[in-house]
Amino acid sequence: MGSFFVILYSMSNELLFVRKAVELFHGSSKEAIDLGCGYGRNALFLAENGFNVTAVDKYLDCLTEIENKTDKITTVHADLIDYKFTKNYDFILCTFVLHYFERNNARKFIKKMVKHLKKDGILAISLIRTPKSLSIDELMDDVANLSTVSAVEKIIHDNPHSGANYPHDHDVFFYIGTRE
Ligand SMILES: C[S@@+](CC[C@H](N)C(=O)[O-])C[C@H]1O[C@@H](n2cnc3c(N)ncnc32)[C@H](O)[C@@H]1O
Repeated sequence: MGSFFVILYSMSNELLFVRKAVELFHGSSKEAIDLGCGYGRNALFLAENGFNVTAVDKYLDCLTEIENKTDKITTVHADLIDYKFTKNYDFILCTFVLHYFERNNARKFIKKMVKHLKKDGILAISLIRTPKSLSIDELMDDVANLSTVSAVEKIIHDNPHSGANYPHDHDVFFYIGTRE
């Protein structure tokens, strides 16, 4: 498993983890899904990189903002807790979302993402670690059918946002796996 080190990293501007995951992708088809897409920074990046992107969120305003920016992304308004995948994907992304889920729901959802990843596909997950979120060992168990490409825990610095109106740090686990 990856090492623990500290970097400065802005959650609102940087896409380094997603960029890295895209660089690691060598599949021939490019069907991607961004689960819990927020305002679409990563979905937009995937679309700019030639992926056919579906972006899913339960917050309608986020999807409207994406729709106002591009017609290249298919938006889906849904709660991921009971989300039913309609097909398999080459690139599955879930960043800074799973800490909202109750541990068992997070584990079920990770298994669902693994199940719907195509051969040579990439699954990229970033998990904000909280006392209630699933553990790294649990996440690694749930992705055991994939080959781990990268698994790193980092402290990232976040700017003030609603709910935490001051600069603060997060302990985040970044996972990238592939189906060989
Ligand atoms: C911290 S934001 C991260 C957004 C995006 N992934 C990113 O990295 O910029 C978390 C997003 O997950 C969405 N979300 C949380 N729980 C969800 C659920 N059960 N179903 C669908 N979306 C959910 C929220 O609406 C929010 O847009």
